[in-house]
Amino acid sequence: QAIRFDYSNALAFVRPHEWELLAPAIGQAHEMLHKKTGPGRDFLGWVDLPEQYDRIEFNRIRQAAARIQSDSDVLLVIGIGGSYLGAKAVLDILGHSFYNLLPKSKRRAPEIYFVGNNISPVYISHLMDVLEDKQVSINVISKSGTTTEPAIAFRLLRDWLVGKYGRDEAKKRIYITTDKAKGALKKLADEEGYESFVIPDDVGGRYSVLTAVGLLPIAVSGADLDALMQGAADARAQYMVNDLLENPCYQYAAIRNALYRKGKTVELLVSYEPQFRYFSEWWKQLFGESEGKDGKGIFPASAEFSTDLHSMGQYIQDGMRQLFETVISVTTPSVDVTVQEDPADADGLNFLTGKQMGYVNKKAFEGTVLAHVDGGVPNLLVEIPKATAYYLGALIYFFEKACGISGYLLGVNPFDQPGVEAYKANMFALLGKPGYERQKAELEARLKE
Ligand code: PA5
Repeated sequence: QAIRFDYSNALAFVRPHEWELLAPAIGQAHEMLHKKTGPGRDFLGWVDLPEQYDRIEFNRIRQAAARIQSDSDVLLVIGIGGSYLGAKAVLDILGHSFYNLLPKSKRRAPEIYFVGNNISPVYISHLMDVLEDKQVSINVISKSGTTTEPAIAFRLLRDWLVGKYGRDEAKKRIYITTDKAKGALKKLADEEGYESFVIPDDVGGRYSVLTAVGLLPIAVSGADLDALMQGAADARAQYMVNDLLENPCYQYAAIRNALYRKGKTVELLVSYEPQFRYFSEWWKQLFGESEGKDGKGIFPASAEFSTDLHSMGQYIQDGMRQLFETVISVTTPSVDVTVQEDPADADGLNFLTGKQMGYVNKKAFEGTVLAHVDGGVPNLLVEIPKATAYYLGALIYFFEKACGISGYLLGVNPFDQPGVEAYKANMFALLGKPGYERQKAELEARLKE
């Protein structure tokens, strides 16, 4: 078992029959996912993706990554939401915490920066300061090919690249990941002859990390793509069983739904490793966009312990009791450090002499779980033995599948995101995009009120 799911610290809050009674609904959700009969059925490509991915495209990704590694000091990854969070999460967990700052001799690959995930002039200007004198390639990722944030960043950075290398050389340094046939980016890629990679039609943004969306940046970082896909493939096989009592992935979906029904409407994804910060961001998008609709849904939030125990800890322990926690734990850290004896013992820490920091972190985790359970916060545990590509692939699939099942259990379409259009329409209207004239006048009048 790549993943251990332990719900014993939730049992004081939901009795076994409360979630076991969800078995028929879980069974139905399983059927809808695997037989493609539920809402959002056109976006289920991720279910079998770890087995049925395009091997030719996969090899092209490796070749492009090798080229970028050989001719670039920096890879810029332009994308937002599902078009960047998965890659950022994987790179952070599998890479060095200060990856971009390591001397070249200690890095396997180019520096990698993510951009186009905000509209901040400060961020992009500061990034451009870093690029001076460096050899740069760009991977722009957008399924629709029309998203404003990455489009603005690409326009600026493409101009910069053409200014630096000239149009012909810049062409060889731009890699596009987009729809196979439609969208502005696809059109541009065809016109300019940029190398492009396909986001399958049936895989939505937040489920796309194991497609070219995530795989090209991940390959550039030197991470083991085969192990990542194998971990996901093994998880797919393991979580195929349509039996709640045998399937930990479905148990997670059922228990969180049972907790939600009892008023636990906020789920905090917790990790004790800062390298998991963006995994939490990826997870928040996955669950937030999939479940938050029709006036329903658990609000996905995250915390990083022990840091946040010194800021959010008070609320979690003692505040309003609408929370439950899901801790992602890594049994053995990738490196460890031993606390040394200090003869003066001025800090009183000699009781830790010879102990490893990983052990201290584990005790912080165990103590916190018990304190939070005592404070009325149910705790779920998702544990992997090590933060390797294989286990990460399994973890990604575990949450993707739990999310699909969970969404059906909640009675929503987990594969659409109608709500994200509202801000875009207002923004376009206020910016004066052609076609939005009526909304512009209305919104401006409201802003003046
Ligand atoms: O999950 C989603 O569909 C969204 O978060 C998208 O990934 C995000 O809006 C970016 O869209 P696109 O890849 O079309 O630029």
